[in-house]
Amino acid sequence: MDGNGRWATERGKPRSAGHIAGVETAKDVIANCVRLGVKYLTLYAFSTENWNRPADEVATLMGLILTELKDELFVKNNVRMRWIGDRSRLPQQVRKHLEDMEEETSGFTAMTVSFAISYSSRWEITKAMRDILWEIKNTNLTFNTVDDNDITEETISQHLETYFMPDPDLLIRTGGELRISNYLLWQIAYSELYFTNTYWPEFEEKELHKAIADYQQRQRRFGKTEEQVETENNTAHEKQ
Ligand code: IPE
Ligand code: MG
Repeated sequence: MDGNGRWATERGKPRSAGHIAGVETAKDVIANCVRLGVKYLTLYAFSTENWNRPADEVATLMGLILTELKDELFVKNNVRMRWIGDRSRLPQQVRKHLEDMEEETSGFTAMTVSFAISYSSRWEITKAMRDILWEIKNTNLTFNTVDDNDITEETISQHLETYFMPDPDLLIRTGGELRISNYLLWQIAYSELYFTNTYWPEFEEKELHKAIADYQQRQRRFGKTEEQVETENNTAHEKQ
């Protein structure tokens, strides 16, 4: 969700106005994704690197978490909320609020929206490695024996913050930058990437539809040839 600051600056407003507008976009995108039948939506709201922004901007963003992330949105849309990121760095009140929201929405089933807050992919992968090492040393939960082959791609996926969700089909970045910025690096191995110059506060329903229509034109080959994929698709259709 990039471009809040520039959207505001270009309109002669403070950056905080961009973040406030961006919250409204996030709410709309959540509701629209439910309507479209999306099962998992993950929103990159605040990176571990964003802690280095000016204190007043960080305070604005933390404040918005408290005031804008409310039951109503999730109840109305039957959406479960989860949080991925480094919980230890959040102010106690914000952390408690997010954890309460996770608890309160845990029974909702239409879609899971995960907020990446105080998140970075390298932090997540480092933590996963430490957790695996800890389990090897202290428990027999993950492995009965300690054989090199016990550590598989699945072992690593299961120790990431995103263990409960499938890998993303589509990654959308708004705001015009052509980079990933430490987001879901492991998980996007085969995701389709979509970049748009539209600033996040202007990422309206038609922009979301445009991104999905673009995605629908892609052929996902997962390393195979075009011919193989087409044969597989035809066989799948015949079975239906
Ligand atoms: C939103 O956009 C991302 C957040 C960290 C909340 P930015 O605040 O990065 O906006 P730009 O890139 O300065 O325009
Ligand atoms: Mg930015």
